Amino acid sequence: MPLVSMRQLLDEAAKGGYGVGAFNVNDMEQIQAIMEAAKQTNSPVIIQASRGARAFAQDNYLYHLMLAAAELYPEIPLAMHLDHGNSFETCKSAIELGFTSVMMDGSLKADGKTPATFEENVAVTKQVVDFAHERGITVEGEIGVLGGVEDGHGAGGSGLEHVTDPDQAVEFAEKTGVDALAIAIGTSHGAYKFSKKPDGSVLKMDILLAIHKRLPKTHLVMHGSSSVPKDLQDVINRYGGKLKETWGVPVEEIQLGIRNGVRKINVDTDNRLAITGAIRKVLWETPEKFDPRDYLKPAREAMQKVVALRMTQFGQAGHAGDYKAVSIAEIAQGYKDGSLSTKPLVADK
Ligand code: 13P
Repeated sequence: MPLVSMRQLLDEAAKGGYGVGAFNVNDMEQIQAIMEAAKQTNSPVIIQASRGARAFAQDNYLYHLMLAAAELYPEIPLAMHLDHGNSFETCKSAIELGFTSVMMDGSLKADGKTPATFEENVAVTKQVVDFAHERGITVEGEIGVLGGVEDGHGAGGSGLEHVTDPDQAVEFAEKTGVDALAIAIGTSHGAYKFSKKPDGSVLKMDILLAIHKRLPKTHLVMHGSSSVPKDLQDVINRYGGKLKETWGVPVEEIQLGIRNGVRKINVDTDNRLAITGAIRKVLWETPEKFDPRDYLKPAREAMQKVVALRMTQFGQAGHAGDYKAVSIAEIAQGYKDGSLSTKPLVADK
């Protein structure tokens, strides 16, 4: 299958009532792990690259690796998404490269650190939507600000400082016409999200439910959604690592989200933990080894295991064959003639 529109993937997920994991990549082994997990579980999938990943891998390597994935797994619907674009120019360059979906994170200014005003966010997001939709490309926007910092992007803080206001979410969706809406409900990027198993005082699922009630057809996105499982932390620490005790987002909370409009779930940290643990184990147990394949292969397998598990838990497993790819040109036509709606359905309070 060619790279497909993320809008198509999310519309199908809404029809089927499941969520789709969006997994971050920086290199070939991570792409391979995700595609093998997708094949194993027969799942549609979103692969995403941040600005940091683009700088690390270089655009052309990344793009051609993604094309290779689409070529090698023709049965898997696969969208290539830009994670946390910081400006119109960053999104434009991703679209021109061949990404089929972009996130314009206008919740922060272009420095990727300072919270932006609502008006600034609407203006830059709308500019990206106009440019992207004309070309059949999907846009995710963000309202409210996540906690933490990832690849140098983020406002820092706990994640509770700028949680999304449901009224603003409605206004933002109406004014921008985004295809997917990332919301801030207390999660943050990285391993250190919560100091104990989160309850409603720190993980604001009530806000998610309130937003879904007002925007019942809008595809919601949960960022910072790694579960940071204890077993993955333990492997790292057993083999010389020094992670402090920490908690992520419990899978059952994500599943509650999926029953209430969440269609895209961003996961990066869990895979980083799996990879690092597997590499540490090989190097700790067999320090005489020096062939990178000796540790990259177990690392890739460890990541595949995590991704396959999440695909099953999010419900996307088994759905790869449900539909055929619509071409990006047809998607562009759909935005133009209005058959792909960009006007959210808004319910009363
Ligand atoms: P985690 O750090 O929880 O994996 O979140 C990743 C993310 O939201 C990428 O945008």
